Amino acid sequence: MKKFVAIVAATAILGGSSAIAQEYKNQIKARQGVMWTISLNLGTLGAMAKGEMEYDADKAAAAGRSIHGVSMVHLATLFPEGSDGGMNDGTTAKDTIFSDRAGFDEKWAALGTAAEKAAAEAGTGKEALGPVMGALGGTCKACHETYRIPQ
Ligand code: HEC
Repeated sequence: MKKFVAIVAATAILGGSSAIAQEYKNQIKARQGVMWTISLNLGTLGAMAKGEMEYDADKAAAAGRSIHGVSMVHLATLFPEGSDGGMNDGTTAKDTIFSDRAGFDEKWAALGTAAEKAAAEAGTGKEALGPVMGALGGTCKACHETYRIPQ
């Protein structure tokens, strides 16, 4: 009987935690999609800068605009309080996002500024890619360092 009760209790706990994990599933998927969209387009710029892909002004400008576009999403919608990796499966978001929301927003705004530069300058010539990527890359690291659970 004791064992049965323990199993029921364990099932209830597991059931409960998976309910929490489900709660923010859409937000987690959406924000990871935003991150991967940024990453994919940054990869295009990187490949052109390195000469692995032929420089194409239209494609470079489109990549810059894509990053700028996703940098405009409303951050609080993607990162609701309690949606961090301590409370949910499948996410590396740290709870420092919620204890220091202003700092997190500031890092996202820095990405926005670099992305605006990327949108305006990536299509102006291959030599513009280095500075554009440098500015963008610095903003990823600055945020991940503090607000993402290390991999
Ligand atoms: C304002 C903070 C912030 C900025 C700026 C930022 N990221 Fe992220 N990034 C995060 C957080 C938080 C996560 C974890 C999201 C999750 O797992 O829910 C993440 C996760 C990722 C992931 C992994 C997604 C997954 O499926 O696990 C990639 C790839 C990524 N970021 C790329 C980038 C790149 C490239 C840049 C810069 C051009 C960037 N990020 C800028 C906060 C940021």
